[in-house]
Amino acid sequence: MSVEVKTICCIGAGYVGGPTMAVIADKCKYLKVIVVDLNKDKIDSWNDEDLTKLPVYEPGLKDLIKRCRGKNLFFSTNIQQSIAQSDMVFISVNTPTKKRGLGAGEASDLKYIESSARSIAEFAVGHTIVVEKSTIPVKTAEVIKTILFSSQKGLENKPSKSFTVLSSPEFLAEGTAIDDLINPSRVLIGGESKDSINALVNIYKNWVSEEKIIKTNIWSSELSKLTANAFLAQRISSINSISALCEKTGADISEVAKAVGMDYRIGRHFLKSGPGFGGSCFKKDILNLVYICKLYGLNEVANYWQEVLKINHWQQNRLTNIIVKKLFGTVTNKKIGILGFAFKADTNDTRESPAINICSNLLLEGAKLSIYDPKVKFQEISDSLNDLNNAQDHTIKIKDSIFTASSFEQLANGSDAILILTEWVEFKNIDWVKISKLMRKPSWIFDCRDIIDVNHFGESDLNIWKLGFGSNMDNQK
Ligand code: NAD
Ligand code: UDX
Repeated sequence: MSVEVKTICCIGAGYVGGPTMAVIADKCKYLKVIVVDLNKDKIDSWNDEDLTKLPVYEPGLKDLIKRCRGKNLFFSTNIQQSIAQSDMVFISVNTPTKKRGLGAGEASDLKYIESSARSIAEFAVGHTIVVEKSTIPVKTAEVIKTILFSSQKGLENKPSKSFTVLSSPEFLAEGTAIDDLINPSRVLIGGESKDSINALVNIYKNWVSEEKIIKTNIWSSELSKLTANAFLAQRISSINSISALCEKTGADISEVAKAVGMDYRIGRHFLKSGPGFGGSCFKKDILNLVYICKLYGLNEVANYWQEVLKINHWQQNRLTNIIVKKLFGTVTNKKIGILGFAFKADTNDTRESPAINICSNLLLEGAKLSIYDPKVKFQEISDSLNDLNNAQDHTIKIKDSIFTASSFEQLANGSDAILILTEWVEFKNIDWVKISKLMRKPSWIFDCRDIIDVNHFGESDLNIWKLGFGSNMDNQK
């Protein structure tokens, strides 16, 4: 029996829900697409006439919103009505690491998944296909099913609702989300009901070729997502561990990564060393994998993946130590310019950004930070640093120690060092010779994102340190 889907709803208007639904709306003009959220401010921003105020910055997103919003794409806080009129409901809510209680610090907090399932159970009308888009522990569909199916009990005399549950995890990466959604490497759909799977396939088929649509059982689908993120993060920790060895030996990490990556079995992507991976996914999903492994008594497997996280943290602390050592062992009251605060380029997202830990370490050492990021607001920077400060029981007065710079010149003026933490394209065009004249001597540039070419600094008196390479002042170079 084929299931006709005319209206879909997505619970969660965040980094996944917003862009994913915008692409679906653009590719499936026949569908009505409603994105709902509890957060009224967020929905207001999605509905703002001024498209620079969208809550998510993603290249290409503004054009999609302009094309579809108000036609077949709607953003709303009316969760009840939106679910009631939908044939298919996607759950794209956040699944952060639990802060307290059983599994605190490792397990995913499923409270938003549970409340979404309860809303669907309460408000759905007729048959509803529920699609897990959020990243969740394997076996979560069981929880969703239990909540949905228990809502049917007692309705024998008025069987007005029924459900099927699918898992279709999202593989987009921030900064390239629209491209990733339009040209996905694969679309994964796990489930039992063939009709429901086909209903979702029929949506994706509008722009994705069928060979790229993988159908699996629901548990494989849930676990594949965690595994994919763990493998990606593992590559970064692997290359970052080698970056430290390069700095000691005179090898150059970009040359090593190129030589290693040209073996097709290894592949050249995702081998860029840097200040460690950030973003809302990798750390949380590996912690979740670790927790699940422990639950099943697989302690060796848990320890294996835990190491990926340890190297990531170590890389950030290692960078801070290098900076302090190069600046004569102290940065107290020294001005350090920070270029980039987002966890990667082309996003305004700062969740788990390596900049948070590194800046916090420098603040603890007494530094004053002048920070510039093209897409991150000062409030966001200050909130992220305050959250870590409070979580670690430190008492730094963040607001007195950080400043935003509105130009590269302002950031450089009187600073002892500049630290590049995000690979924004605009940082590639900085006139470093001009900038160096504004800095206090001796002046240091710490490039953690392979942005600058040391060969262009022949006449300058700048000391340049590059991650995975070392310094132009080191004897062995
Ligand atoms: P987000 O925090 O940006 O957005 C989640 C939204 O859900 C929030 O706006 C929140 O207010 C809303 N919400 C929570 N509970 C709700 C409820 N009961 N009803 C209505 N709205 C509710 O999160 P995100 O980055 O979009 O991630 C969502 C999920 O997708 C997570 O499980 C994440 O792991 C996964 N994921 C994220 C990415 C990414 O790059 N960010 C990529 C793939 C998968
Ligand atoms: C990741 C996964 O890539 C994506 O498939 C999944 O759906 C969500 O999690 P995201 O976190 O948005 O996406 O960005 P990603 O490009 O994976 O980068 C994560 C972090 O790794 C960033 O901090 C980035 O700077 C860092 N990174 C990435 C490196 O340090 N080196 C690399 O070679 C690649």
